[in-house]
Amino acid sequence: MRAVVSKPHLLSRIASITLGKTIGGPGASIQDHPEPTISPDEILVRVRAVALNPTDYKHIDAVSPPGCVIGCDYAGEVAQVGGNAAKTWAVGDRVAGAVHGGLFPDRGAFAEYLKTDSDLAWKIPADIDDAAAATFGVSAVTAMLTLNVRLHLPWAEECKVGQEQQQSAPAIFIYAGSTSAGLFTIQLARLAGYTVVTTASPHSFDLVKSYGANAVFNYRDDNVADAIVKEYPDIRVAVDCFSEGKSFGICDAVLKNKGGRLITLLPPAKPKYPGVEHELVMAYTLFGRSFQWLAPFGPKFPALPDDRKALARFYASLPELVSNKTVRPPPITLEEGSWDGILTGLDKLRSGKVSGGKLVVKL
Ligand SMILES: NC(=O)c1ccc[n+]([C@@H]2O[C@H](COP(=O)([O-])OP(=O)(O)OC[C@H]3O[C@@H](n4cnc5c(N)ncnc54)[C@H](OP(=O)(O)O)[C@@H]3O)[C@@H](O)[C@H]2O)c1
Repeated sequence: MRAVVSKPHLLSRIASITLGKTIGGPGASIQDHPEPTISPDEILVRVRAVALNPTDYKHIDAVSPPGCVIGCDYAGEVAQVGGNAAKTWAVGDRVAGAVHGGLFPDRGAFAEYLKTDSDLAWKIPADIDDAAAATFGVSAVTAMLTLNVRLHLPWAEECKVGQEQQQSAPAIFIYAGSTSAGLFTIQLARLAGYTVVTTASPHSFDLVKSYGANAVFNYRDDNVADAIVKEYPDIRVAVDCFSEGKSFGICDAVLKNKGGRLITLLPPAKPKYPGVEHELVMAYTLFGRSFQWLAPFGPKFPALPDDRKALARFYASLPELVSNKTVRPPPITLEEGSWDGILTGLDKLRSGKVSGGKLVVKL
């Protein structure tokens, strides 16, 4: 089958991480690659559309060993069903989800065929097209992991849709609301009954409000944290959907009044104030398998069975949540060019040219 496969060796990956730039030429190419074979608990998916994430190019540039299939977010149709999965899936069913791309030779989304655990995927409702379905991958499941698992906010399917927001609703601060992760986090936090305070560039203000933000501030203003604290002095929980540069400092300053918890999507800096705690989440723990980056020397991550259960629960609830528009996809930009479009789209992400939405490639 055709697939986007990683090339670099350990030394060039370590050099890329140390020097902060790609060493030794493009780290992935479109190649012929063996089709995955499935276990009785898995399904094989013919991939029709993929959504692009920053983690895809980060894996290409630094993390992926040679010979791994890149890509996490997909939509397509079931091509083969493992013996234990036949109660849930049939050949031809439309299916979408996220897989742990970039670390395994047989488990990535940028491929003609991918395999996934049969309970870690969701059925696409008839009125949702493949491009929209593909966007409910890494960004969506990270929002769920952050809010429902780590911060214990109520789950979307338990929430009463259309309910008036309570005057006394607690506030949550979501830094970088216009990222894909941010747009899903805003939606799930609003559903959970929280008042959502976020940041974005002025060109994204209307966008984040249309996804449910109650208040939005420009993260480039020097006094942004003071302005937020003045209006929302009681914030105790925050999610940093950018997690680079000044973001940790701004989040800490928003939390310092009462103390509280900041969930970050990239490794956090040390908290600046007493009573403020930082915790990193990683979507990859949702897949229920231990893994290691930059083996044999790099960090090891244990399997977290409760995270896996959370992903199965979220994807089981998603068809209804998406069908009745309780949870919406981010704005979509279709990247033309099929397989080549994946690589040009990743270059756009790499150079920070994507704002307020998701790049999707149809294969
Ligand atoms: N730990 C995990 O499991 C996990 C999961 C998902 C994502 N992530 C990481 O989280 C980050 C966001 O991912 P994503 O896919 O959601 O991003 P994305 O959609 O590609 O982010 C694009 C947005 O970034 C915003 N932005 C650019 N520079 C900024 C800055 N200096 N401060 C604040 N916002 C800025 C822009 O907002 P404006 O146009 O409004 O300026 C733009 O809309 C990436 O680093 C990604 O690798 C981690």
